[in-house]
Amino acid sequence: MIIRPRRLRRTKVLREMVRETTLSPKDLIYPLFVKPGKGIKDPIPSMPGQFQFSVDRVAHEAREAWGLGIPAVILFGIPDKKDPVGSRSWASDGVVQQAVSAIKEKLPDMLIITDVCMCEYTDHGHCGVIKDGDVDNDATLELLARQAVSHAKAGADLVAPSDMMDGRVAAIRKALDQEGFKDIGILSYAVKYASAFYGPFRDAADSAPQFGDRSTYQMDPANALEAIKEAELDLEEGADIIMVKPAMAYLDIVRAVREVCLNPVAAYNVSGEYAMVKAAEEKGWIDGKRVMMEMLTAIKRAGADLILTYFAKEAAMALG
Ligand code: PBG
Repeated sequence: MIIRPRRLRRTKVLREMVRETTLSPKDLIYPLFVKPGKGIKDPIPSMPGQFQFSVDRVAHEAREAWGLGIPAVILFGIPDKKDPVGSRSWASDGVVQQAVSAIKEKLPDMLIITDVCMCEYTDHGHCGVIKDGDVDNDATLELLARQAVSHAKAGADLVAPSDMMDGRVAAIRKALDQEGFKDIGILSYAVKYASAFYGPFRDAADSAPQFGDRSTYQMDPANALEAIKEAELDLEEGADIIMVKPAMAYLDIVRAVREVCLNPVAAYNVSGEYAMVKAAEEKGWIDGKRVMMEMLTAIKRAGADLILTYFAKEAAMALG
């Protein structure tokens, strides 16, 4: 006797009924880049369809996403000037702070997440302050906490530290609590690998390190046990949502973290993953839309509850 799994694949309706994983616009978080100026919507060459927006234009883009059913954005800032400590990152009139207020004013229910890191704001492009040629962990904590508090003051709903300093979730939690933001959550980039998949992002955010690389703070792509350790540490320190990043080449890690973690898990479908699909699609080598949906479904299937993706609007449109 032949066992016939094909029976359940016979018609579209039947396939849909037995489908194990479903994707919804509600799962998606849309990353946006904000820069100083007015009336700006500059295309990012290595990320076709993505732009750097000035504050006055970013709310419009957020509204489009909201209209498609996407509940959240995550904001990245490109400051007017950079310095060794990234002081524009905690300025009350900084680009991200202004963008948060602008979006909140127009879309009070939309969830606003802010990326908390120094690399876009430091002139050396590293994710913290430099001492003896490397990032000084403990000196950086205070600056990250300041930045997170300034985002909360502007109206952010969740702050998302992406720096990979040890102890930063605890430092940020403590500062937020002290300043009266006990209900502002932390979406921690808990499991963030030192990845070449971030290449296009660094063009978009002008945040490439000017010397060396990030391997003394971001994780070695060869490690999986360490992912569990990082996730557990961040939960102990008070993280509300745990993120794994990148997503596609790290689906085993998404699954492993999902299995040990009782909090929501997010995965970041990063810039390089987006760029590869767009480039191959442009060459006519793949069906970009189908590959996009397959990627996002796979990330969800691996165990991610939430997906940060540049495809958010396109995917939401495809999902109808
Ligand atoms: C900042 C940050 C990076 C990304 C998100 N936050 C870049 C990096 O660590 O170099 C990458 C996002 C992407 O590639 O889409 N530290």
